[in-house]
Amino acid sequence: MSVSALATPPIDPTHASGTDRLKVQQLSHAFRTADGVDVPIFERLDFSVRSGEIVSIVGRSGAGKSTLFNLVSGLIKPQSGQISAGKRDDGSAGRIAYMLQKDLLMPWRTVLQNAVLGIELYRKVKPADIERARQMLARYGLGAVADAYPHSLSGGMRQRVALTRTLLVDPTLVLLDEPFSALDYETRLALEDDVMALREQSGTSVVLVTHDIEEAIAMSDRVILLGGRPARIEDDIDVRLTTHGPRTAVSAREAPEFRTFHSRVWNGLRSHTIQHAGATA
Ligand SMILES: Nc1ncnc2c1ncn2[C@@H]1O[C@H](COP(=O)(O)OP(=O)(O)OP(=O)(O)O)[C@@H](O)[C@H]1O
Ligand SMILES: [Mg+2]
Repeated sequence: MSVSALATPPIDPTHASGTDRLKVQQLSHAFRTADGVDVPIFERLDFSVRSGEIVSIVGRSGAGKSTLFNLVSGLIKPQSGQISAGKRDDGSAGRIAYMLQKDLLMPWRTVLQNAVLGIELYRKVKPADIERARQMLARYGLGAVADAYPHSLSGGMRQRVALTRTLLVDPTLVLLDEPFSALDYETRLALEDDVMALREQSGTSVVLVTHDIEEAIAMSDRVILLGGRPARIEDDIDVRLTTHGPRTAVSAREAPEFRTFHSRVWNGLRSHTIQHAGATA
């Protein structure tokens, strides 16, 4: 096939089956302040992510993005509402992998031991897992430090270890909370490609929280703008890009529609931040 302009559909047709990999219904949650006041973060929030879909969530700091992930992953219990997360297309239970905003590496474990921790939490680690972990670490430029301890690593290296740990568990749903924020541009693009490849190969659904609008647009089938208090979905954008050849971190950024999507997300974020500032002034 010659290289031609391909319109990338919002969902890869080989993986899209119409099944919801994540379904959040009527989700309500509030935090209580020290003086006993309830601050509602979500009130009857609905949203879903389909099988094989990559969705980015953008929104100002404090909007509730990490709280949403904590609820979806079961780390905190919602006050009301239903969450179904990670189910396979046949309805059987899948596996959720959550890369927290903080990397949370165990200081007493080596890089390799940290990388296989996710697997260890649900089954015995096999020699093949160690081999895969070493390969993935090498791919992320961490081959030489596989047997070192986390304290000797830079912030970007620690993030890459955490990402390795997340992807090694063969998840059906991946939650990534600002996974690439401490990385240089080149590494960031390479890891964006890796996450997109994971979806292509395994039909994994990915939900990504990012403050980087370019990253959100380049990687995602949909960009959701979360704003207000309680947080609402202010915009839900189908990202359709015309790329030369397959969609990659670079080809997506070169698509003619890229700037238009960028402006829409940027303007949405700006207007909601201004509204919010006005509301709290
Ligand atoms: N355990 C908690 N107890 C009380 N309030 C909390 C708790 N966790 C989060 N909050 C509050 O809930 C709101 C949402 O926080 P959250 O961390 O989800 O925001 P965020 O969108 O992830 O922000 P950022 O972009 O800075 O990471 C904030 O006002 C925060 O102070
Ligand atoms: Mg957060």
